[in-house]
Amino acid sequence: MAGRIPQPFIDELITRVDIVELINTRVPLRKVGRNYTARCPFHDEKTPSFSVNPDKQFYHCFGCGAHGTALGFLMDYDHMGFVEAVHELASSVGMQMPQTLDAKSDADAPAINQSKDLYALLEQAAIFYKRQLREHAQALRAIEYLKGRGLSGDISRDFDIGYAPPGWDNLLRAFNAQASPALQAQLADAGLLIEKDNGGYYDRFRDRIMFPIRDVRGRVMGFGGRVLSNEDTPKYLNSPETPVFHKGRELYGLHEARKAIRQLDRLLVVEGYMDAVALAQFGIRYVVATLGTAITRDHLEKIFRLVPEVVFCFDGDRAGREAAWRALQNALSLMHEGRQARFMFLPEGEDPDTLIRKKGQAGFETEIENSIPLSTFFYNQLTGQVDTLSMDGRARLVELVRPLLSNVPDGVFRHMMLARLAEIARLDVSILTQALTQGTEVVRPARRRVAAVAHAAGRSPVRIAVEILLYQPALAQQVGDPQALARLDLPGVGLLVQLLELLQARPHLNTAALLEHWRDTQEGKYLAKLAQWQPEVPEGVEAELQGALQRLAEHYHEQRVEDLLHRERLEGLGDTEKAELRRLFSLAKGGFVH
Ligand code: UTP
Ligand code: MN
Repeated sequence: MAGRIPQPFIDELITRVDIVELINTRVPLRKVGRNYTARCPFHDEKTPSFSVNPDKQFYHCFGCGAHGTALGFLMDYDHMGFVEAVHELASSVGMQMPQTLDAKSDADAPAINQSKDLYALLEQAAIFYKRQLREHAQALRAIEYLKGRGLSGDISRDFDIGYAPPGWDNLLRAFNAQASPALQAQLADAGLLIEKDNGGYYDRFRDRIMFPIRDVRGRVMGFGGRVLSNEDTPKYLNSPETPVFHKGRELYGLHEARKAIRQLDRLLVVEGYMDAVALAQFGIRYVVATLGTAITRDHLEKIFRLVPEVVFCFDGDRAGREAAWRALQNALSLMHEGRQARFMFLPEGEDPDTLIRKKGQAGFETEIENSIPLSTFFYNQLTGQVDTLSMDGRARLVELVRPLLSNVPDGVFRHMMLARLAEIARLDVSILTQALTQGTEVVRPARRRVAAVAHAAGRSPVRIAVEILLYQPALAQQVGDPQALARLDLPGVGLLVQLLELLQARPHLNTAALLEHWRDTQEGKYLAKLAQWQPEVPEGVEAELQGALQRLAEHYHEQRVEDLLHRERLEGLGDTEKAELRRLFSLAKGGFVH
């Protein structure tokens, strides 16, 4: 994705741009010490925990964990694609996009010039459909249908529900696009028209109730269209993927929920358009619906950026529980401090739309209050798979939990999950914590456990080195040949070496530019996390880096000496190896630092 734009261009761009200026035009910032702060634009809060660091060119919210570079900010705040964000930044600092970027062949590129226009077309289309619901000769059928489903006129207005009349070219003609192939092509890009095999275009949505799908900012991105008669198929037709609409990322009703409740503090996630609208009508306005896809990580990130609490509403059947389990797996790594996820399972044969009509707001909200916390659902599902009465079963349970908890951020939630596991598995919680943190078997010799505990006590020297380099990239120039570290057999060393090599080759890179090299990778996520580290004593970081490298050098020497001694006993050493061993013995200190 980022591959088409040469990395040196991104480097240059990020070092030229000022993230403070960029964010300040959208979210007014206040200077506090070296940094700038504001109330976080990605979640609701009363006191500012959003912080922009001009040195690192990086922002971070201590409340919701949102973080990123200038590019990341444009992508998250303005909902731009990567290439689009690069364009926007480049033009803001007067940089020409590189020639190598072939706009026509890049999947992201059409979004650049068009997305603004597409939004305008989509908005007009929404207005057109809405007007048809009032004016079209066939509209009575649609209105009767909506009434039959129990929707009030008010709620239908709140959600801008409309009607696409029967016929092949109503929308096309409403846009006066008959004589303009260019406009027709654009309407097709917006997902509103379909191209015929033999040329020409026709309306995608015909004789359907229209639900406009808006982004958080309220822009129409696409539509869902429902048939009036259950005999017709498909029941729902959705906009296709377009430069501005990605089904697996968006949530129907998010904008409407934000509009109805100024201080949203929780979201209820349901599956259907009709469910969302019906719940809203009955007073449950904090509702969103997925668009016929499973709940993705993108969905969850979007939700947790806005609210700390999410309740998933699923069918009570097997399929519903499986879907819930998948949502849970996606949620685990996002369970930062203060976040909550719960699961509500509906009685057989009910969906939220029918249940709210039976129970009313208060009754439904009681069900929400009684929904199952993530931790309970988690252990209910897993203990169902093992025999917790046997020791083997409990050991197996720990092994089932291990990979699932491996990505859960440190904090109260993780601690509680471990405490609960300790209870079920009848293990001491500190032993369990060590076992799961170290990625080692629960049952193992005591001696190795002691070593693991000693190691876990502090940040590893590799981590310290990476954190300091991200904090002050210029320090890389004081480190010797990174390849000398490469032979070390420790987790994270590969990344540290890459980081050092990159910085030594391009000394001017700042933290944000560095992070852009790892965009959309696991390492990138890890680095972004470490980039939030702040030293207690800024003047001490240079010495701390040297100390960490020293420890790595010593570690390497130990490994190497042990290895050489071992081989000497077994097979004897050659002359160069003997010399190396002698040298290693004579070295009081390691040699990575100049
Ligand atoms: P449902 O069939 O549960 O939707 O499908 P619903 O909103 O409850 O439908 P009705 O109007 O009450 O009968 C859940 C979601 O799956 C997607 C839609 O997003 C729908 O809201 N879906 C369903 C489709 O995309 N296409 C379909 O043909 C059916
Ligand atoms: Mn339904």
